[in-house]
Amino acid sequence: MEIPKIKTENTNLEIVNSNAKYNLYIETYGCQMNVNDSEIVVSILQKENYKTTENISEADLILINTCSIRDNAEQRIKSRLFIFKKEKKRKPGLIIGVIGCMAERLKHKLLEEEKLIDLVVGPDAYRDLPKLLQQINGGQKAINVLLSQEETYAEISPVRYATNGVSAFISIMRGCDNMCSYCVVPFTRGRERSRDVNSILREAGELVDNNFKEITLLGQNVDKYNFTDEFGTNYNFSNLLKIVAENYPNTRIRFSTSYPQDMTDEVLTIMASHSNVCKHIHLPIQSGSSKILELMKRGYSREWYLHRIDAIKRIIPDCSITTDIICGFCDETDHDHNETLSAMNLANYDYAFMFKYSERPNTYAQRKLNDNVPEHIKTERLTEVIALQQILSNKNNSAKVGKIYEVLIESVSKKSINDFMGRSSQNITIVFPRKNYNIGDFVNVKIIKNTSATLIGEIIDNS
Ligand code: 5AD
Ligand code: SF4
Repeated sequence: MEIPKIKTENTNLEIVNSNAKYNLYIETYGCQMNVNDSEIVVSILQKENYKTTENISEADLILINTCSIRDNAEQRIKSRLFIFKKEKKRKPGLIIGVIGCMAERLKHKLLEEEKLIDLVVGPDAYRDLPKLLQQINGGQKAINVLLSQEETYAEISPVRYATNGVSAFISIMRGCDNMCSYCVVPFTRGRERSRDVNSILREAGELVDNNFKEITLLGQNVDKYNFTDEFGTNYNFSNLLKIVAENYPNTRIRFSTSYPQDMTDEVLTIMASHSNVCKHIHLPIQSGSSKILELMKRGYSREWYLHRIDAIKRIIPDCSITTDIICGFCDETDHDHNETLSAMNLANYDYAFMFKYSERPNTYAQRKLNDNVPEHIKTERLTEVIALQQILSNKNNSAKVGKIYEVLIESVSKKSINDFMGRSSQNITIVFPRKNYNIGDFVNVKIIKNTSATLIGEIIDNS
């Protein structure tokens, strides 16, 4: 397939219009998609004379971009709303808006239950924000929670207001059609749709022109990327990955999230053959038991998943693999749980995000299955899963001592201003003395020790 060359303009990364009249305080919860959505929202509001502030007491508008994935995510957001409402009592003209997944899930209920909230906007309705804000200035409350089959915010350049200047996200698709039985996302983010390949390349070009060194392509299931352009050329995810990697050979390319059912060997081959495509795959397993996977409606079995892991290890031997695991799903027995532990051992994950199952309203699982694993068993199983992952992570990290990795320097270390923090292609975080380098530089780092949480290294150079 021919690689389209694109022209970029250096226009979209001015962070703030310092003459803007209004202050926007925006807080973001949940996934990377939400982080990127907040950048889109800031871009839309910048044109309405808003600039971002990190100081709540300065704000004219507070937006909280929310997550509904588990009940505890929503509880955390409710406690933040409590603080914002206090602020509004102090400053009555302040506008408080709830945006994102919780806005979509609760809709009018949010306005009814939380009297001090003015604005509720779902993930597909951000273009409507200027109009909704006008409505509020006219004395009314405002809501738009319409989901769309087309919206991808393709031509809106996100404003990277909280950037480290080194890495950035690009959304390549929105929504999710998988309908996993436990998951609220298809209800909060709507149908799957892919963004125009040219607009993705344009945004990547802007980032590269502005010295960004790493781009993460985002989607709920990137393997389902599917776009046909006006000439009838169809692009799947491996085509897109190849094009982005080849157009920007000096930029690291990452992507998230892969789906075991849809991840093809073609994608793995592109990863292996392009040195700037990072060697890391996040491949959520959720459970190691085929019975539970079926109840979760994941569309693959334990065997299928483990074959995909074998394919990764065969095609990209130096690839790191991370995952998501849910403990205590409906009807999960000790045997099912042990299957998860054994799959973890077989996959030998570098890292995992591990959760207790949290029943979500209106999902298939909530309607048709029984949330019948007692809370204390969920906790016990989660503790075991975390303990095993700690053993695997430690073992994998120890094996890295003495090896040399190319690291992109991202920031000064939180613990010492004399050290930098950076990541290898495999997404391993490494801390090392700064020498004469700068944030955004690529350096070769030799790992010298492995503490429980971090890898410590030193820059190998000729100076
Ligand atoms: N309960 C617990 N964890 C969940 N996840 C998604 N829905 C739920 C739920 N209802 C987890 C999955 C998913 C990650 C983003 O969150 O592991 O991959
Ligand atoms: Fe949370 Fe899922 Fe919405 Fe992301 S898509 S914010 S993880 S509910």
